[in-house]
Amino acid sequence: MSQQHTFVRRPRRNRKSEVIRSMVEETRVTTDDLIFPLFLLDGKNQQTEVASMPGIFRRSADLMLKEIEECMKLGIRAFDVFPAVEDQWKDKEATRSYDPNFFYLKALREIKKQFPEACIMTDVAMDPYSSDGHDGLVRDGKILNDETLDILGKMALAQAETGIDILGPSDMMDGRVGYIRKVLDENGFTDVSIMSYCAKYASGFYNPFRDALDSAPKFGDKKTYQMNPANRREALIEAQLDEAEGADFLMVKPALAYLDVIRLLRDNATLPITAYNVSGEYSMVKAAAQRGWLDGERVMKETLLSIKRAGADVILTYFAKEFAQSLKH
Ligand code: PBG
Repeated sequence: MSQQHTFVRRPRRNRKSEVIRSMVEETRVTTDDLIFPLFLLDGKNQQTEVASMPGIFRRSADLMLKEIEECMKLGIRAFDVFPAVEDQWKDKEATRSYDPNFFYLKALREIKKQFPEACIMTDVAMDPYSSDGHDGLVRDGKILNDETLDILGKMALAQAETGIDILGPSDMMDGRVGYIRKVLDENGFTDVSIMSYCAKYASGFYNPFRDALDSAPKFGDKKTYQMNPANRREALIEAQLDEAEGADFLMVKPALAYLDVIRLLRDNATLPITAYNVSGEYSMVKAAAQRGWLDGERVMKETLLSIKRAGADVILTYFAKEFAQSLKH
């Protein structure tokens, strides 16, 4: 017979049954934590799947309204809407981004009209509307910071006028949070929130998103404005600035390869921390699951849990609807 030891501590006792495991569970993800990114198309009755993001569709406003209704029933109540803009509407100054008759702004008004109780977030950056495919204004191959702010201010104001709840400046220009806050306040939009893309890294994980919107840069890369993946302290500089400039939420993006940065900001900032579980992170799980190499549902849940455990209060994720559905069965 093998010997019974008398260890005082046996951590396995707290894992011995489902009830006890559940009792001592430290982190739980709920649908309240999630924001679902959606891709908007111009026109009517349009729907196309993003090839590199199985299960994710670009939709025209009429079909997007139906999708939002379905999600609301599942408990997903926050959405981030991105426009897929045809080339003919793109120019160097991203002028369509603040044209109140452009399909994106019209759709936002319609969404808020039909679902006033939903939380609608928008993206403030030039890239979907820019013929250069950059987040800032380009002159002589350079991205101009202060000149870009002027355009971002107009875009932010035009989006705020549609009645949306949260603006998401994703461009990484210096000073844009403070500038946008000032423009909003001076125009009476003191209630519109800013979720700042605070520590946004120059990442290879964004490619499927750029496929979805056809928004890849036409030359060069985004390394003069998005952060170097090697840097941690720099995230604190961005966080301090965005807090001081009036952001309401700080975002870390991507999420999975940057869990340490999420934890760093959680421990050093007082604002809520959002993590963007980006397109490439979604595609990797989907691709492996399609080949039967991973259990997609299990890995989805583990992924979201890990992001929350790292310190995120809010998670932007393409898994939002699927996660909500998985709770129902
Ligand atoms: C654009 C923007 C990007 C994403 C959100 N807003 C792409 C980029 O910076 O090139 C990426 C989101 C994702 O990959 O899911 N300003």
